[in-house]
Amino acid sequence: MKKLQTFLVLILFAGGLACSKSKNEEKPVSPPDPPVTEEVSLQKKLPFPFGAAVNINLLKNNSAYREVVTTEFNSLTAETAMKTATLHPQQNTFNWTDADYLIEFARQNNKRIHGHTLIWHQSLPSWITNFQGDAAAWEDLFKTHIQTIVSHFKGKVVSWDVVNEAFDDDGTLRNSLWLQKLGPDYIARAFQYAHEADPDALLFYNDYGHEYGPTKRTAILNMVNDLKSRSIPVNGIGLQMHTRYTMADNNLANAINTAAQTGLKVHISELDIAMNPDNNQNLTFTASLADQQAQKYKFIVKTYNAIPKSQQFGITTWNVSDADSWIPGNYNRPDWPLPFDNAYKKKPAYQGILDGAK
Ligand code: G3I
Repeated sequence: MKKLQTFLVLILFAGGLACSKSKNEEKPVSPPDPPVTEEVSLQKKLPFPFGAAVNINLLKNNSAYREVVTTEFNSLTAETAMKTATLHPQQNTFNWTDADYLIEFARQNNKRIHGHTLIWHQSLPSWITNFQGDAAAWEDLFKTHIQTIVSHFKGKVVSWDVVNEAFDDDGTLRNSLWLQKLGPDYIARAFQYAHEADPDALLFYNDYGHEYGPTKRTAILNMVNDLKSRSIPVNGIGLQMHTRYTMADNNLANAINTAAQTGLKVHISELDIAMNPDNNQNLTFTASLADQQAQKYKFIVKTYNAIPKSQQFGITTWNVSDADSWIPGNYNRPDWPLPFDNAYKKKPAYQGILDGAK
């Protein structure tokens, strides 16, 4: 009997709960406010332009790639689409297709375009390497090449790597075709010709190895200071910074700070941090390596963020994800140099970059 009473009490209690619940449900209940999540992206969080080199085929055909490029970066450099072999395949033929695609993408998505590169010893089409002519004919080729390209992109490309990699590691001028045919002052003339074609474009000298030590970098800085003293229109220095996680912080800081001492703009123009510099075919990318890479990215960003604001042209990584980097193919090894992984997910390096600007 006692059990039956208890059973009935329980049923009544449960019914009461059900009733009160359904009464409550009749009242309009406003949904809780969504959590405030601030959208994080490199371009929003960093206090200077943050860019990437882009591969036009990937931009056109890989939606994950395009999404990351659109969301994360506000400055773009063509990885190959604005090089001589692509843009100027025959003496009287210019091929603007891929570069103009990038320009249009940048216009629609509000990105800055940095031009790379007008004069380089690589990416030369055979019509240039086989060209026969006297000094005047070479000068005409050189000037026409620079001015046709700069004019085409006038008002669309804000800045150019006018001359790329003109020095050897021992600090002497590289014995390139340009040096052979035009003499050592070709660098100054390249800047003058580019400036004539677009007086508003910012003009950079771009090279690698400033972080190796003083030999090459001093030669580059002396050359750039000489251009300045002659009123040659040079606006900035590009530090490619294809570096490695074992590079000493001190070397990286010296590269950035000595470039800043020229008073010119500084662009870390091709940043990537190799994790397998010893070409170990069996290496795997461990959490410890990922953390060391993040610390190195952080150090570079922090050091760069400390140079005068007016000299911070920006930092550009050399492509977007580990799947797109030139390093594994070029050195025939596994490597993981960029802030996004093969699936376009953020790596610890991404947070390292953000932390560097805090
Ligand atoms: O587009 C063709 C494709 O049609 C063909 O099927 C394929 C077969 O090899 O080649 C493709 O072209 C390659 C191109 O990259 C696009 O991926 C070229 O062979 C290859 O030589 C080219 O390499 C580029 C290299 O410069 C030379 O232009 C790398 O992607 C690029 O990362 C590298 O970038 C340089 C900077 O400009 C200057 N600083 C050093 C940096 C790394 O080497």
